Amino acid sequence: MSGPPELRVGIVGYGVMGKAHCYGYRVAPMLRTLPVTPVVTVMSGRSGPAVAAAAAAYGVPQHTTDWRALVARDDVDVVDICTPPGTHAEIAQAAAAAGKAVLCEKPLALSYPQAAAALAAAESAGVHHAVGFNYRRLPAVALMRRMVADGAVGEVRLWRATWLSDEFADPRTPYDWRFDRAMGGTTIADLGSHLIDMALWMAGGIASVGAQSATFTAERSGQAVTVDDASSALLRFESGALGTMEVARAAVRRPCDFTVEVNGSRGTLVFDYARLNELRYGRADDDPGLYGMRRIRAEHPSHPYAASWWPLGQGVGYGASFGNQVADLLEGWPEAPWSPGFGQGAAVQAVCDAMEASAAQGRWVAVSEVTGARPHPR
Ligand SMILES: NC(=O)c1ccc[n+]([C@@H]2O[C@H](COP(=O)([O-])OP(=O)(O)OC[C@H]3O[C@@H](n4cnc5c(N)ncnc54)[C@H](O)[C@@H]3O)[C@@H](O)[C@H]2O)c1
Repeated sequence: MSGPPELRVGIVGYGVMGKAHCYGYRVAPMLRTLPVTPVVTVMSGRSGPAVAAAAAAYGVPQHTTDWRALVARDDVDVVDICTPPGTHAEIAQAAAAAGKAVLCEKPLALSYPQAAAALAAAESAGVHHAVGFNYRRLPAVALMRRMVADGAVGEVRLWRATWLSDEFADPRTPYDWRFDRAMGGTTIADLGSHLIDMALWMAGGIASVGAQSATFTAERSGQAVTVDDASSALLRFESGALGTMEVARAAVRRPCDFTVEVNGSRGTLVFDYARLNELRYGRADDDPGLYGMRRIRAEHPSHPYAASWWPLGQGVGYGASFGNQVADLLEGWPEAPWSPGFGQGAAVQAVCDAMEASAAQGRWVAVSEVTGARPHPR
């Protein structure tokens, strides 16, 4: 029996995201009927024994310590980048030049100019390109966006988000790439990029930011920490809406807690990652006797993604976002462009850069100061 033709994927990096993406490729064909069957043919990583062990564990038949060799292989159609951000743009540009489709983990790059260069390379090569903003593929987050777009809260007036983690709370946590600005380890880029993607997606463009940052532990394993432990920002949207955002990796006993809230002219929607199959929703015209917010279970077959998962009431988890991501990208292969593409990656990077500049200079920074007002396709 022959199924759809194979689409062969090479994954660069075998860490947490290498594993998550392998899982996504395995699960996607169980969720939807796809025109191709994704198969991870090869993985790369810097340590030979470690990449060999990861490839064996994830069922990947081949491995290499040379990402350039992976990009050049004839049996790789898609290059999937799961390495630290400081390596992304170079790998993405090389993959595009080799004519490969590119899925790149967030953030797309270290800086807006690097992200714009990756976008230009993908566009001039005419290859598919996407950034791994996976959280928008959670059913409740996708439902929240759909409801906002459908006018469920009216005109968006306030948007706020927090992302609290205790990853860096212990000063004895040893130095790695996450503490190194040159590898793109900033908290703004790591956690903030997801929130900024959701902000732009739900509430439209951000015009300017007023940010602050702090590094509480200046040295780890004898090396200087060059990233922020925590940052926060006031946001002004192009629509006139106001926003706030707080990201921290120094919040004790907060594992990966993120929340997004939208207050519109007629309603409020709240997402809380600790209850990721739910939304809270209240409308101005609700029965006053039932004052408050109802809990929507984002699992009904009419909700985004829900019908391809489990029976009502069983819920999904983090891993589902990676299966949904692959299914979304490959469902229209090869005609449909991928979304969110590098244009959105660059737009997110521009807001990250504006936050960095604002925190460093102690003033409001317009995002157009970073981009030169260049619009990006989203
Ligand atoms: N979408 C999400 O939910 C999510 C979650 C975690 C990380 N990420 C992103 O995925 C990317 C990878 O993160 P991760 O958590 O998988 O990292 P990790 O540390 O677990 O794995 C990093 C991988 O990159 C390789 N690598 C190549 N050059 C390196 C270098 N100079 N320093 C360190 N490692 C190097 C390592 O060998 C390893 O295979 C980052 O861009 C990160 O922001 C996304």
